[in-house]
Amino acid sequence: MQTAGRATAVAPANIAFVKYWGVRDPVLTLPFNESVSMNLDRCLTTTTVAFDPRLDDDEVLLKLYGQDERPAEGRARERVVAQLDRLRGLAGVATRARVRSENNFPADAGIASSAAAFAALTAAAAAALGLELSERELSILARRSGSGSACRSIPAGFVHWRNDGTDAGSYALSVAPPEHWALADIVAVVDPGVKSVGSAENHRLVTSSAYWPARLQEVPGHVVAALEAIRERDLQRLGEVCERDAVSMHVVAMTARPPTFYWSAGTLAVIHALHRWRREGLAGYFTIDAGPNVHVICQAAQADELEARLRALPEVQWTILNHPGPGTRVVERPGS
Ligand code: PMV
Repeated sequence: MQTAGRATAVAPANIAFVKYWGVRDPVLTLPFNESVSMNLDRCLTTTTVAFDPRLDDDEVLLKLYGQDERPAEGRARERVVAQLDRLRGLAGVATRARVRSENNFPADAGIASSAAAFAALTAAAAAALGLELSERELSILARRSGSGSACRSIPAGFVHWRNDGTDAGSYALSVAPPEHWALADIVAVVDPGVKSVGSAENHRLVTSSAYWPARLQEVPGHVVAALEAIRERDLQRLGEVCERDAVSMHVVAMTARPPTFYWSAGTLAVIHALHRWRREGLAGYFTIDAGPNVHVICQAAQADELEARLRALPEVQWTILNHPGPGTRVVERPGS
């Protein structure tokens, strides 16, 4: 084993075409179903982890977009420390660490920032500890952080989170590199200030929805269709699956006990506009995570036109344009 040192990793956020919604085992973060996603090339978290024998406790400093760096507190800090503990356990060391993490995208834009954050933390801490881990092992560790979708930010491009219900069999792998398909995801921010119920709480509530069994039955078909659509670069097929799967996820959230309504009036305005534009021949399809903002999936060649139209809607406050991106990479290693 190498001496613990310092490493930096950069990780992308990702957007799910087929959603992870519902946790079967909250300790290991094992999902009920498989999911499919694409890494976002412009929404990145950069994290440096430095193990230092002089520290009595872990230090966790977060710099969110547009804000000053400040120490993480409460649950946010506990989750980082728990993930460091998992990696220290593997390496057989007890040394405390200084963690500095920075986002280049607004945390309230409806982009799952925790996926990028825990993928970057996991890769940086593993490299700093000199752990030689495969991509699959890193993905499993990122999943165990509690932000399950972090496992999908490890491999490159278009990603399938496989799940056989076991710890070793629940990991993400790349099904196509980013350059496979010139696709775009335009995030249409309709409600930046809305504080919603976090996904962690709702992952535990899924079974209280009467519609949960119906979702569980249809998701395997969505996964197969999304993977085929990616392989064949078939936007209509992928778009239709994205919309069906997102609506199914939100039906479960809206009918859970207690229910959560993530959509706002702006969400519906964007959905209706997309339907209108599709009838005119401009193809953009929606998907929506645990918030009101809408991700519009389209061909990269049509992204400028769609982005301009989205910006012209009174409900849309701003947009962020992404293309398929690489996975998590270590940009600085001990001794480098
Ligand atoms: O990985 P979590 O716990 O942040 O949950 C992700 C939930 C969704 O973003 C709504 C869906 C997904 O698969 O990314």
